[in-house]
Amino acid sequence: MTYHPVPYRPARLPDDESLARAATLRQHMEARRSVRMFSPDPVPERAVLDAIAVASTAPSGAHQQPWTFVLVADPDVRRRIREAAEAEEQLSYDGRLGDEWLAALRPLGTDAVKPHLTDAPYLIVVFQQRFALDEDGGVRKHYYVDESVGIAVGMLLTALQVAGLAALTHTPSPMRFLGELLGRPRNEKAFAVIPVGYPADDCVVPDLRRKPLGEVLVRI
Ligand SMILES: Cc1cc2nc3c(=O)[nH]c(=O)nc-3n(C[C@H](O)[C@H](O)[C@H](O)COP(=O)(O)O)c2cc1C
Repeated sequence: MTYHPVPYRPARLPDDESLARAATLRQHMEARRSVRMFSPDPVPERAVLDAIAVASTAPSGAHQQPWTFVLVADPDVRRRIREAAEAEEQLSYDGRLGDEWLAALRPLGTDAVKPHLTDAPYLIVVFQQRFALDEDGGVRKHYYVDESVGIAVGMLLTALQVAGLAALTHTPSPMRFLGELLGRPRNEKAFAVIPVGYPADDCVVPDLRRKPLGEVLVRI
Protein backbone atom coordinates (compact mmCIF):
# COMPACT_ATOMS: atom_id res chain seq x y z
CA MET A 1 0.00 0.00 0.00
CA THR A 2 1.29 3.45 -0.88
CA TYR A 3 0.49 6.95 0.40
CA HIS A 4 -2.29 8.55 -1.67
CA PRO A 5 -3.50 11.91 -0.31
CA VAL A 6 -6.96 13.25 -1.23
CA PRO A 7 -8.43 16.69 -0.39
CA TYR A 8 -10.29 17.08 2.91
CA ARG A 9 -12.26 20.32 3.23
CA PRO A 10 -15.13 19.95 5.71
CA ALA A 11 -17.29 23.06 6.02
CA ARG A 12 -16.24 25.28 8.94
CA LEU A 13 -19.20 25.87 11.29
CA PRO A 14 -20.10 29.31 12.63
CA ASP A 15 -19.22 29.49 16.36
CA ASP A 16 -22.85 29.63 17.50
CA GLU A 17 -23.74 26.46 15.61
CA SER A 18 -20.64 24.72 16.87
CA LEU A 19 -21.50 25.67 20.45
CA ALA A 20 -25.13 24.61 20.03
CA ARG A 21 -24.11 21.18 18.68
CA ALA A 22 -21.57 20.67 21.47
CA ALA A 23 -24.10 21.65 24.15
CA THR A 24 -26.79 19.36 22.73
CA LEU A 25 -24.44 16.39 22.60
CA ARG A 26 -23.25 17.08 26.14
CA GLN A 27 -26.87 17.13 27.32
CA HIS A 28 -27.57 13.80 25.60
CA MET A 29 -24.48 12.21 27.08
CA GLU A 30 -24.99 13.53 30.61
CA ALA A 31 -28.33 11.71 30.54
CA ARG A 32 -26.69 8.38 29.58
CA ARG A 33 -26.80 5.60 32.14
CA SER A 34 -25.80 1.96 32.03
CA VAL A 35 -29.10 0.07 32.02
CA ARG A 36 -29.39 -3.43 33.50
CA MET A 37 -33.21 -3.69 33.45
CA PHE A 38 -34.55 -3.82 29.89
CA SER A 39 -38.00 -3.89 28.35
CA PRO A 40 -38.43 -6.73 25.84
CA ASP A 41 -40.06 -4.19 23.45
CA PRO A 42 -38.49 -4.21 19.99
CA VAL A 43 -36.34 -1.27 18.91
CA PRO A 44 -35.79 -0.11 15.31
CA GLU A 45 -33.06 -2.34 13.90
CA ARG A 46 -31.98 0.47 11.53
CA ALA A 47 -30.97 2.63 14.51
CA VAL A 48 -28.81 -0.17 15.89
CA LEU A 49 -27.19 -0.78 12.50
CA ASP A 50 -26.53 2.95 12.14
CA ALA A 51 -24.88 2.99 15.58
CA ILE A 52 -22.62 0.09 14.59
CA ALA A 53 -21.77 1.95 11.37
CA VAL A 54 -20.86 5.00 13.50
CA ALA A 55 -18.62 2.83 15.70
CA SER A 56 -16.88 1.54 12.61
CA THR A 57 -15.89 5.10 11.64
CA ALA A 58 -13.60 5.18 14.70
CA PRO A 59 -9.94 5.97 14.24
CA SER A 60 -7.71 2.91 14.60
CA GLY A 61 -4.01 2.15 14.84
CA ALA A 62 -2.61 2.13 11.26
CA HIS A 63 -6.25 2.18 10.07
CA GLN A 64 -6.49 -1.56 10.68
CA GLN A 65 -10.08 -1.32 11.99
CA PRO A 66 -9.53 -4.32 14.26
CA TRP A 67 -13.16 -4.89 15.27
CA THR A 68 -16.13 -7.14 14.57
CA PHE A 69 -19.63 -6.40 15.88
CA VAL A 70 -21.86 -9.48 16.15
CA LEU A 71 -25.51 -8.44 16.36
CA VAL A 72 -27.52 -11.11 18.16
CA ALA A 73 -31.31 -10.96 17.98
CA ASP A 74 -32.02 -14.72 18.07
CA PRO A 75 -33.65 -15.43 21.48
CA ASP A 76 -32.13 -18.90 21.67
CA VAL A 77 -28.60 -17.59 21.16
CA ARG A 78 -29.22 -14.83 23.73
CA ARG A 79 -30.42 -17.51 26.17
CA ARG A 80 -27.24 -19.55 25.63
CA ILE A 81 -25.07 -16.45 26.10
CA ARG A 82 -26.90 -15.70 29.34
CA GLU A 83 -26.46 -19.24 30.66
CA ALA A 84 -22.73 -19.26 29.89
CA ALA A 85 -22.22 -15.72 31.22
CA GLU A 86 -24.07 -16.47 34.46
CA ALA A 87 -21.97 -19.59 35.01
CA GLU A 88 -18.79 -17.47 34.74
CA GLU A 89 -20.26 -14.64 36.83
CA GLN A 90 -21.28 -17.08 39.57
CA LEU A 91 -17.65 -18.19 39.93
CA SER A 92 -16.56 -14.55 39.92
CA TYR A 93 -19.01 -13.42 42.59
CA ASP A 94 -18.29 -16.56 44.64
CA GLY A 95 -14.71 -15.37 45.16
CA ARG A 96 -12.76 -15.26 41.90
CA LEU A 97 -12.98 -11.44 41.84
CA GLY A 98 -11.36 -10.95 45.23
CA ASP A 99 -12.55 -8.78 48.12
CA GLU A 100 -11.33 -5.44 46.75
CA TRP A 101 -13.10 -5.88 43.41
CA LEU A 102 -16.30 -7.11 45.07
CA ALA A 103 -16.22 -4.06 47.35
CA ALA A 104 -15.83 -1.76 44.31
CA LEU A 105 -18.88 -3.39 42.69
CA ARG A 106 -21.11 -3.18 45.78
CA PRO A 107 -22.53 0.33 45.03
CA LEU A 108 -23.68 -0.96 41.64
CA GLY A 109 -25.90 -3.63 43.20
CA THR A 110 -24.87 -6.22 40.60
CA ASP A 111 -24.77 -9.98 41.13
CA ALA A 112 -24.37 -13.12 39.03
CA VAL A 113 -27.91 -12.96 37.62
CA LYS A 114 -27.95 -11.20 34.24
CA PRO A 115 -31.54 -10.84 32.94
CA HIS A 116 -30.47 -8.06 30.55
CA LEU A 117 -28.85 -10.71 28.33
CA THR A 118 -32.25 -12.20 27.49
CA ASP A 119 -34.59 -9.23 28.08
CA ALA A 120 -32.89 -6.73 25.75
CA PRO A 121 -33.98 -7.31 22.13
CA TYR A 122 -30.39 -7.08 20.85
CA LEU A 123 -26.94 -7.98 22.06
CA ILE A 124 -23.99 -6.45 20.27
CA VAL A 125 -20.99 -8.66 21.00
CA VAL A 126 -17.82 -6.73 20.20
CA PHE A 127 -14.72 -8.64 19.21
CA GLN A 128 -11.16 -7.36 18.86
CA GLN A 129 -9.16 -8.73 15.95
CA ARG A 130 -5.89 -9.36 17.77
CA PHE A 131 -4.20 -9.94 14.39
CA ALA A 132 -5.30 -10.20 10.77
CA LEU A 133 -5.94 -13.65 9.39
CA ASP A 134 -5.43 -13.89 5.63
CA GLU A 135 -7.46 -16.30 3.52
CA ASP A 136 -4.40 -18.54 3.10
CA GLY A 137 -4.02 -18.73 6.91
CA GLY A 138 -1.23 -16.12 7.04
CA VAL A 139 -1.08 -13.80 10.04
CA ARG A 140 -0.41 -10.02 10.15
CA LYS A 141 0.15 -8.00 13.31
CA HIS A 142 -2.40 -5.39 14.44
CA TYR A 143 -1.32 -2.31 16.40
CA TYR A 144 -3.07 -0.52 19.28
CA VAL A 145 -5.97 -2.97 19.27
CA ASP A 146 -7.23 -2.23 22.81
CA GLU A 147 -7.19 1.52 22.23
CA SER A 148 -8.87 1.28 18.82
CA VAL A 149 -11.67 -1.02 19.95
CA GLY A 150 -12.19 1.02 23.15
CA ILE A 151 -12.67 4.18 21.07
CA ALA A 152 -15.06 2.36 18.70
CA VAL A 153 -17.16 1.12 21.62
CA GLY A 154 -17.29 4.64 23.06
CA MET A 155 -18.61 5.87 19.75
CA LEU A 156 -21.11 3.00 19.63
CA LEU A 157 -22.46 3.90 23.08
CA THR A 158 -22.68 7.56 22.06
CA ALA A 159 -24.57 6.75 18.88
CA LEU A 160 -27.01 4.48 20.72
CA GLN A 161 -27.64 7.17 23.31
CA VAL A 162 -28.24 9.88 20.69
CA ALA A 163 -30.71 7.49 18.98
CA GLY A 164 -32.64 7.23 22.25
CA LEU A 165 -31.62 3.65 23.00
CA ALA A 166 -30.32 2.24 26.26
CA ALA A 167 -27.24 0.04 26.59
CA LEU A 168 -24.92 -1.64 29.08
CA THR A 169 -21.21 -2.36 28.77
CA HIS A 170 -21.05 -5.93 30.09
CA THR A 171 -17.74 -7.72 30.47
CA PRO A 172 -18.33 -11.20 31.89
CA SER A 173 -14.88 -12.50 32.70
CA PRO A 174 -13.39 -14.64 31.23
CA MET A 175 -15.20 -14.12 27.91
CA ARG A 176 -13.77 -17.00 25.87
CA PHE A 177 -17.21 -18.67 25.74
CA LEU A 178 -18.46 -15.87 23.45
CA GLY A 179 -16.06 -16.68 20.63
CA GLU A 180 -16.90 -20.38 20.90
CA LEU A 181 -20.65 -19.84 21.07
CA LEU A 182 -20.72 -17.37 18.18
CA GLY A 183 -18.25 -19.31 16.02
CA ARG A 184 -15.70 -16.51 15.72
CA PRO A 185 -12.29 -17.16 14.13
CA ARG A 186 -9.14 -17.63 16.20
CA ASN A 187 -7.85 -14.07 15.64
CA GLU A 188 -10.89 -12.58 17.43
CA LYS A 189 -11.18 -12.05 21.17
CA ALA A 190 -14.40 -10.91 22.86
CA PHE A 191 -14.19 -7.37 24.22
CA ALA A 192 -17.69 -6.64 25.57
CA VAL A 193 -21.33 -7.63 25.34
CA ILE A 194 -23.64 -4.66 24.83
CA PRO A 195 -27.34 -5.30 25.38
CA VAL A 196 -29.43 -2.68 23.55
CA GLY A 197 -33.07 -1.80 24.00
CA TYR A 198 -35.38 0.42 26.01
CA PRO A 199 -35.26 0.55 29.80
CA ALA A 200 -37.95 -1.48 31.58
CA ASP A 201 -40.85 0.59 32.94
CA ASP A 202 -39.62 -0.11 36.48
CA CYS A 203 -35.92 0.38 35.63
CA VAL A 204 -33.70 1.71 38.40
CA VAL A 205 -30.00 2.59 38.27
CA PRO A 206 -27.46 3.15 41.03
CA ASP A 207 -27.31 6.70 42.36
CA LEU A 208 -23.85 7.60 41.07
CA ARG A 209 -22.21 11.03 40.82
CA ARG A 210 -19.86 11.88 37.97
CA LYS A 211 -16.70 13.89 38.50
CA PRO A 212 -17.30 17.52 37.56
CA LEU A 213 -15.36 18.98 34.65
CA GLY A 214 -13.03 20.86 37.00
CA GLU A 215 -11.88 17.57 38.50
CA VAL A 216 -11.02 15.83 35.25
CA LEU A 217 -9.68 18.79 33.27
CA VAL A 218 -6.19 20.25 33.59
CA ARG A 219 -5.64 23.44 31.61
CA ILE A 220 -2.13 24.53 30.87
C1 LIG B 1 -14.90 -1.51 30.57
C2 LIG B 1 -16.20 -1.58 31.30
C3 LIG B 1 -16.64 -2.78 31.80
C4 LIG B 1 -17.88 -2.86 32.46
N1 LIG B 1 -18.33 -4.08 32.86
C5 LIG B 1 -19.55 -4.17 33.43
C6 LIG B 1 -20.09 -5.44 33.75
O1 LIG B 1 -19.49 -6.50 33.47
N2 LIG B 1 -21.32 -5.51 34.33
C7 LIG B 1 -22.05 -4.36 34.58
O2 LIG B 1 -23.15 -4.48 35.11
N3 LIG B 1 -21.56 -3.14 34.29
C8 LIG B 1 -20.34 -3.01 33.69
N4 LIG B 1 -19.86 -1.79 33.31
C9 LIG B 1 -20.71 -0.58 33.52
C10 LIG B 1 -20.18 0.28 34.66
O3 LIG B 1 -20.47 -0.33 35.89
C11 LIG B 1 -20.82 1.67 34.56
O4 LIG B 1 -20.39 2.28 33.37
C12 LIG B 1 -20.43 2.56 35.74
O5 LIG B 1 -20.96 2.03 36.93
C13 LIG B 1 -20.94 4.00 35.56
O6 LIG B 1 -22.33 4.02 35.38
P1 LIG B 1 -22.98 4.73 34.12
O7 LIG B 1 -22.51 3.99 32.91
O8 LIG B 1 -24.47 4.62 34.34
O9 LIG B 1 -22.50 6.14 34.09
C14 LIG B 1 -18.65 -1.69 32.66
C15 LIG B 1 -18.19 -0.47 32.15
C16 LIG B 1 -16.98 -0.41 31.47
C17 LIG B 1 -16.54 0.90 30.89
